[in-house]
Amino acid sequence: MKFKLSVVMAVLALILLWKIRGKQSSFERLPPGPAPNPLLGNLFQFNIKEAYKYYLELSNKYGSVVTIWLANTPVVIISGYQALKDTMIGLGEEFSGRAIYPLLMKSTYGYGVLSTSGHRWKEMRRFTLMTLKNFGMGRRSIEERVREEAENLVEMFKNCEGSAFSPVDMLFNAVNNVICSIVFGHRFELEDPQFKSLLRTVNTYFTILSSPLGQIYNVFPRLVSLFPGKHHQLFKDLEEAREYCKREAQARMNTLDPSCPQDFIEAFVLKMKEEKDNPETEYNFGNLVSIVWNMFSAGTETTSSTVRYALLLMMKHPDVQERVQWEIDEVVGQDRWPSVEDRQNLPYTDAVIHEIQRYMDLAPIAIPHKMMCDTEYNGYIIPKGVMVFPLLSSVLIDPKLWKNPNCFDPENFLDAVGRFQKNDAFVVFGMGKRACLGEALARIELFIIFTSLLQHFTFKATVPPEELNTTPKNCSFGRMPRTYECYAIPRK
Ligand code: HEM
Repeated sequence: MKFKLSVVMAVLALILLWKIRGKQSSFERLPPGPAPNPLLGNLFQFNIKEAYKYYLELSNKYGSVVTIWLANTPVVIISGYQALKDTMIGLGEEFSGRAIYPLLMKSTYGYGVLSTSGHRWKEMRRFTLMTLKNFGMGRRSIEERVREEAENLVEMFKNCEGSAFSPVDMLFNAVNNVICSIVFGHRFELEDPQFKSLLRTVNTYFTILSSPLGQIYNVFPRLVSLFPGKHHQLFKDLEEAREYCKREAQARMNTLDPSCPQDFIEAFVLKMKEEKDNPETEYNFGNLVSIVWNMFSAGTETTSSTVRYALLLMMKHPDVQERVQWEIDEVVGQDRWPSVEDRQNLPYTDAVIHEIQRYMDLAPIAIPHKMMCDTEYNGYIIPKGVMVFPLLSSVLIDPKLWKNPNCFDPENFLDAVGRFQKNDAFVVFGMGKRACLGEALARIELFIIFTSLLQHFTFKATVPPEELNTTPKNCSFGRMPRTYECYAIPRK
């Protein structure tokens, strides 16, 4: 009996050793990086609240490809414009996977577009882009939807009658309603309980995603789940948001007019019906509900917090605000609303919006990628499945690529005679095959909402500009701006 047990133990030990050796040998030619601790890797060697700053330091020390270990998981960090171009674009297919990030998975269960890879991701991305385009992305009708929300926003700000208020919920409502009108075919009032519940879910999701709790959850999901905390309420709220999307989709199953789908959900449900006999089809409720959540989560907090940050920077830099208003008055005047066509005649305003996004650096590591196959780059081998952080920050603050990288300075996007100057290093939406799917929509929203607000109001802080804190509130995953109260003083 004793002999049998010893044999079993010896075999198990051999299998374990073989597995570890196998794993180690496949990681032998990973890029260099700081020495990891045996159990925790490089965790706790840096400030988890500002991890991207540590990644920037590592890229200065080790070069454009670096390996760090989050516990026993290797992560390759790619930094610098050239290396990101070589990998995200030149080796686009190989680098196109999405890392299995526990918090992302928790909200999508591996379905949808944002957190999937391979065939499912390609099919869902193609369908989503095409449908957004058909519903007016880049065409006039999307601009009209955005303008309607900008007009409502101006009304809501007017109702504050010059007293101090927090613009957070109103901005979220405006941006969220653009997505709602595309996805559900209707908008929400600010007081609607369903809207309030969605707002709370998206807000908490981003707050947790960008907090140390979220970072630790992403490395030790099972362990963190055992402890009490905000994440448990978030998971319940996420389930409710998914149920709401599902109810909206189910309601359309019977009422849909196949000749004329009215919104994104109807277009998807139509495809589900067309492909109902295909056992391999990706058109199912799982993918639909997760795509809707992807658009909500990726498309609302990002754009609304960018506008929130834009107003904060205008209060911090009243001279810039004044110059934008002067340009809008000259080109658009006060008798009509700004339109996307005005952009080319508003070079300073265009430069300011770009600079807000560059300086904000909303997604320092984009959304983590995953290798689709073993890939050689710069003499290193990055094995299939390894997580990759595209360090967008490294490009956005590179002194070789910007006139004044460390300050808020619209000159970064202006040439010597004040014309708008495009810069390929403006990578806030990511690069290559996984770049932001909503970039066109986000750009229309930012332009129309920002110009409409500055056409109608001058923004002033409740404290002197020099006391305004423009550093982000959270910066682990997203550099989320602080909330604040402000005055929106109507312009005569
Ligand atoms: C200021 C606004 C926005 C910024 C800065 C932004 C930025 C980004 C970034 C950095 C990525 C990751 C790129 C990568 O993985 O390499 C991304 C992905 C994505 N964004 Fe945006 N985004 C914005 C607005 C939007 C909007 C309005 C939508 C709505 C449709 C949206 C939908 C998505 C989706 C679905 C993905 C995942 C794409 C994929 O995995 O293939 N985003 N975005």
